[in-house]
Amino acid sequence: MEEKVRQIREQAIKVIHESQSLASLDEARIRYLGKKSALLELLKSLGTLPSEERPKIGSLVNEAKEAIEQALRSRKIVLMGIEQKQRIAAEKIDVTLPGKGIRRGSSHPLTQVMAEAKDIFLRLGFEIAEGPEIETEYYNFDGLNILPHHPSRDMWSTFFIKDDVLLRTHTSPVQIRVMEKHKPPLAIIAPGRVYRCDSDATHSPVFHQLEGFLVDNKVTFGDLKGVLTDFLRQMFGQEKPVRFRPSYFPFTEPSAEVDVACVLCNGKGCRLCKETGWLEILGSGMIDPNVFKAVGYDAEKVSGFAFGMGIDRIAMLKYGIDNIRLLYENDLRFLEQF
Ligand code: DAH
Repeated sequence: MEEKVRQIREQAIKVIHESQSLASLDEARIRYLGKKSALLELLKSLGTLPSEERPKIGSLVNEAKEAIEQALRSRKIVLMGIEQKQRIAAEKIDVTLPGKGIRRGSSHPLTQVMAEAKDIFLRLGFEIAEGPEIETEYYNFDGLNILPHHPSRDMWSTFFIKDDVLLRTHTSPVQIRVMEKHKPPLAIIAPGRVYRCDSDATHSPVFHQLEGFLVDNKVTFGDLKGVLTDFLRQMFGQEKPVRFRPSYFPFTEPSAEVDVACVLCNGKGCRLCKETGWLEILGSGMIDPNVFKAVGYDAEKVSGFAFGMGIDRIAMLKYGIDNIRLLYENDLRFLEQF
């Protein structure tokens, strides 16, 4: 009996020392200490032994059990160390490998120019207003002193949705909407999308304008010149020559178009400026008394100026883009340059 206990103990400890994984160690534990193990069978059969032998064999079995448990614990620590080393080796990251590289986006050139223009006017004290892109004939035309059947309506090739409802052809209707609701003094810019039935290298059926107007008592043409000159110098460069040229718009009187010296030849004359040396950038003028009448202002008491510019055109001039379609095709090879 004693011999048998000794054999089991030696064999168990050998198997434990030789086991190579935590899983096989667990198998060994079940085999030598589990419910069906030889040691447990021995303990159960103690009753069949002569009573004087029982204590001796009993304590031998218990010693063997403790020795096996001790062997299991120390082998477990060794195996856990080995498995951890293997895991670390398998999960190793080579930090010297080149990275995958994240493609960084950039804002669209139109977004950039629009933001720059807005910033300049916000610093000058203007506030931003918005209006709907689907407009009524009244706000787009009549309220702005562009009367039905007047030839000036042809200045805007309009997309009509139905009688009376159209896609706004300019941002000027926001003037009427704001003045109807608010009393002067007002200094407002209205950026937004506009639509015209027009399409070639420099015209897109959808494009962007920035409208602006300022109304108070005693606003003069000098104020208009001061604000717009300052804007254009911030936009195109402090030294840029700027000129005001008489023009006509139904909603302003007098009206002026404003030019900057050509961005390509700086005034010498080239293909871009059609040999004139100048590029037309915006329309402007003193708000017509009929517009004030339409919004219920007293044209004797208030005065103001207004202006409107094409953001797409400014972006094309600033970045030397020769086809407006590039701004709308979302070709990454183009957009990534900004
Ligand atoms: N609405 C005009 C256009 O789309 C631009 C314009 C000209 C706006 C003169 C104005 C202005 O406010 O005073 O062609």
